[in-house]
Amino acid sequence: MINIAVLGYGVVGSGVVEVFYKNRESIQKKAGQEMEIKYILDVRDFPDSPYKDKFVKDFDIIANDESVKVVAEVIGGIEPSYTFVKTCLEKGKSVVTSNKELVASKGAELLAVAKEHHVNFFFEASVGGGIPIIRPLHMCLAANEIVEIEGILNGTTNFILTKMIRENMSFEAALKMAQELGYAERNPAADIEGHDACRKICILASLSFGSHVYPQDVYTKGITQITPEDVAYAESCDSVIKLIGRAKKMEDGRISAMVCPMFVSHESQLSTVDDVFNGILVKGDATGDVVFYGKGAGKLPTASAVVGDIVDCAKATDTSTSLHWEPSEGKNVVDKSENE
Ligand code: HSE
Repeated sequence: MINIAVLGYGVVGSGVVEVFYKNRESIQKKAGQEMEIKYILDVRDFPDSPYKDKFVKDFDIIANDESVKVVAEVIGGIEPSYTFVKTCLEKGKSVVTSNKELVASKGAELLAVAKEHHVNFFFEASVGGGIPIIRPLHMCLAANEIVEIEGILNGTTNFILTKMIRENMSFEAALKMAQELGYAERNPAADIEGHDACRKICILASLSFGSHVYPQDVYTKGITQITPEDVAYAESCDSVIKLIGRAKKMEDGRISAMVCPMFVSHESQLSTVDDVFNGILVKGDATGDVVFYGKGAGKLPTASAVVGDIVDCAKATDTSTSLHWEPSEGKNVVDKSENE
């Protein structure tokens, strides 16, 4: 029996519990193990929840329960997530997370802690919501040198831009809709100012190029200054405005990474990626272009990726397929002023 703990019962956490129990039978078959969610950590009370007996407020109960083998961190933010994740890894529990802020800033360190303790640290849900992208990059495309990755990595801003382009909706009204639909971050500034997309391109670049790319080293501009006039001008140029994250390896070995709104020609596949969908184009030196497309935000798509990681942890008999990249001091990245 694999006992699981879910840290956080917000949009994604409640989705994880929902997907797990809805598809438990087939999930257990795929994992080859009996599985149970033993604890849900949240500071709030949920007296009417069918899972009310599983709720705990004290993280130490989970940390000190040796029967808990897999922990899903879906709280978000750096603290207390970082302390909780590190503690669980050090206690020999595999951890899966949707927390892109945590992975983008502490990924190399946490991967090393996981390796040292012979457990897994997976984060498929941290980029692209329900789209499989971390595992394909790490495993299916392992034969390739990755030449470049570019994509629409934030569902909220893509939703807003789509509403502005297709329905002449105001920026504010579209943002409100995205928040109501559960796409936006708790603080939507992270979406509209490009920080969420920046964290995601950092994770993809670190994984693709093997050394940690930190958000503070990446030129980042959001969509707050995009006007209806800009949208119309793009259209007159046979283009649409999209918030694009891009990373590539330069000839000198450094990584160039940036996030900003760009004109995307109607001829590009990325121009057709609308609403909350994300599209990620990976150029491999053997495969050429490979495109990943799907819902990049939302409760159930993101929960799907988290539960997929849980299944993989339950199946893993060793950690030989573990993700890995090296720590860095930021010298691996082209100075962000060069991308301005
Ligand atoms: N706020 C994020 C987005 C959620 O809109 O893409 C998924 O990471």
